[in-house]
Amino acid sequence: MMTLLWEVETAVDPRWLSLMQLSADAALHMEGVKRHCAVNIRLCDDDAIHEINRDYRGVDRATDVLSFPTVNYPKGITAGQADKYLRREYDDELDACMLGDLIISVPHVLQQAEEYGHSPERETAYLTVHGLCHLMGYDHIEDDERKEMRAMEEKILNAIGMDRDGNAAVSDEILMELARQAMERSYSPYSHHPVGAALLCADGRIFQGCNVENASFGLTNCAERTAMFKAISEGAREFTAIAIANPQSAPWPCGACRQVLNEFAPNIRVIVTWGDNEKYEMMLPELLPHSFGPNDLNTYEK
Ligand code: THU
Repeated sequence: MMTLLWEVETAVDPRWLSLMQLSADAALHMEGVKRHCAVNIRLCDDDAIHEINRDYRGVDRATDVLSFPTVNYPKGITAGQADKYLRREYDDELDACMLGDLIISVPHVLQQAEEYGHSPERETAYLTVHGLCHLMGYDHIEDDERKEMRAMEEKILNAIGMDRDGNAAVSDEILMELARQAMERSYSPYSHHPVGAALLCADGRIFQGCNVENASFGLTNCAERTAMFKAISEGAREFTAIAIANPQSAPWPCGACRQVLNEFAPNIRVIVTWGDNEKYEMMLPELLPHSFGPNDLNTYEK
């Protein structure tokens, strides 16, 4: 799981921020890093990145992305095999290992997207992944290391399925991993039954949710509904899949959650995952046959 500590100095589409979070979570997962990590991420203009490039690297011009790793990786070792080195960067306030700083020029993102004929979202994801690879110990000075870095970049970008329009057709593997990460944030002191969910929207956004219990038991909110209500209140209305995770057993959604999913996404694909990557999937109509929904109310207006 990656915590991104934001410094956003230039107005950006909020979708970029969720895309960067997705890229960062996917990067750690594909690299095989099990620890909770953090990165300072700054989105700025050309003047600001120019200044940093000049002061810290002696290069007197603006650029697209700069990364400053905190971990001192031995040659040929990247984050996935560097647990001992990551541990040294553990920050107890963050409860995460600080991997370093990433600076991205927003004007460069826009300009390069136009040059390459793809969306700014795609360029954002690419630059984020490139910078994160540096923070995980990759480099591109020598031929063999460049090949390895490119391969890892490809692997991460493929996992988030970035197409040229910047729509992230997220892989099930990543969606399930995001559900597992949400599960770690579960507040379940009464049932000790943590559940996490990751809900994929048609526009590529992902909303995570966990179950949130209460001493007054009936007030508990399930993971799926947490994710769905977050999504609805952020304006998302179309959904393609939801992954649900539990450590031990198949976390099929409860009746209430099936009903809430049916309200907004009657044909959603439901993936449950448990144990050591066990999984099973079903379409919602199989889980909620003969459902009752908005169209069954004669007072409902489109
Ligand atoms: N739970 C969910 O989060 N999703 C479901 O669909 C079923 C149950 C949670 C609620 C409660 O915190 C715990 O699991 C035990 O019921």
